[in-house]
This record gives sequence, C-alpha cells and structure tokens, in this order.
Amino acid sequence: MTLLGRALGIITAVLYGIAILNFFIKWGNRKWVMKLPKESAFRGEYQTVMKFLVKNHRFFGLGAAVVMVAHVTLQILFQWVSVTGLVAAGIAVVTIILGGIMFKAKKRTPAMLWAHRSAVIALVIAAAIHIITRR
Ligand code: HEM
Ligand code: HEM
Repeated sequence: MTLLGRALGIITAVLYGIAILNFFIKWGNRKWVMKLPKESAFRGEYQTVMKFLVKNHRFFGLGAAVVMVAHVTLQILFQWVSVTGLVAAGIAVVTIILGGIMFKAKKRTPAMLWAHRSAVIALVIAAAIHIITRR
C-alpha cells in the first residue's frame, strides 16, 4: 500500500503537469510555431498536439483530482497526515473551481484567466514543497 500510495502521488503530479502544459504549448505556438510556413510538417504536428491538450485540458485537471483523492486516502490510512499535502490539495481544489467557473462562463474575462493561473502558480509551489519535504 505504501508503494501504491507513492505511485499515485507521482501520477497526480504528472497529470497536473500535463494540465499545465496547456500554457507552455500555447506560448511556444505564439512565439515560434505560428511563424513557420503553413506547409511545414512540424507546424501541423505541433498544432495537432496543441489542440488535443487544449481540448482535453479540463479532463487532465479533473483526472488528477481523482487520482489525488486516492493518493490522499491511502497516505492518510497507511502513512501519515501530510500537512504540506493538505495545503497542496486545498489549492488544487481552488484551481479546479476557478477553471470550472471560466469553463462555464458565457464570456471569459482576463481576470478569470489570471485568477486560475495564479492558483496554478501557488499549486506548483505547494506541491514542490510537499514532494521535497514529504511532511
Ligand atoms: C496536489 C496534491 C498532491 C500531490 C501532487 C502529491 C504528490 C506526492 C508525491 C509525488 C509524493 C512522493 C512520492 C515518492 O515517494 O516518490 C508524495 C508523497 C506523500 N504524500 Fe502526497 N501529494 C498530494 C497531496 C497529499 C495529501 C493531501 C496527503 C495526505 C494528507 C499526502 C500524503 C503524502 C505522504 C504521507 C507522502 C510520503 C510517502 C512516503 O514517503 O512514503 N499527499 N505526494
Ligand atoms: C488543477 C488542475 C489544473 C491546472 C494545473 C490548470 C492549468 C491551467 C493553465 C496553466 C492555464 C493557462 C493557459 C493559458 O495561459 O492559456 C489554464 C487555462 C484554462 N483552464 Fe485550467 N487547469 C486546471 C484545471 C482546470 C479545470 C478542471 C478546468 C475546467 C473545468 C479548467 C479550465 C480552463 C480554461 C477554460 C482555461 C482557459 C482556456 C483554455 O486554455 O482552455 N482548468 N489552466
């Protein structure tokens, strides 16, 4: 159970990481790939991957939350109650709620995007502290 609990923690982190790729793949597209000629094979492949990541973004975020609940349950039962882990989990829930509000909104505002992004930055810091300290 200890090993499974740890593996679930790693899967949680990887899925959050894929959700975060949303930002970086769009950034690379704007900065660089969009300037390539339309016929470029690389441009086509890059944008196919980008569309997949953007379209399924919410499922990676929600999937991470599901695995996170399993990680938390096993760790509390078989390891210990991690305070840094609880902080990270709380921020993850806030991030998902903010993402959900933006997803449902009739009109997306820059404030919504920045609120969601700021929560993501807090989540990365909290998760890093949790993973490094394990406490
Ligand atoms: C955003 C939420 C979370 C993420 C991404 C996350 C991820 C991780 C990762 C990657 C590890 C290291 C696995 C390894 O040993 O290689 C870990 C360890 C651990 N996590 Fe979490 N975790 C989260 C939330 C929580 C919560 C809420 C708890 C419990 C209340 C918790 C309890 C633990 C414990 C006890 C360990 C240490 C396991 C060990 O060293 O044997 N985690 N977590
Ligand atoms: C905790 C998990 C999540 C993380 C780490 C995360 C991360 C991000 C990041 C970094 C961006 C910025 C992309 C950009 O700058 O263009 C973003 C945008 C967005 N997120 Fe999330 N997100 C998560 C969960 C969710 C969920 C569950 C939903 C919806 C139910 C959601 C909906 C959105 C929407 C609508 C956008 C803006 C448009 C788009 O790029 O699709 N997010 N997210």
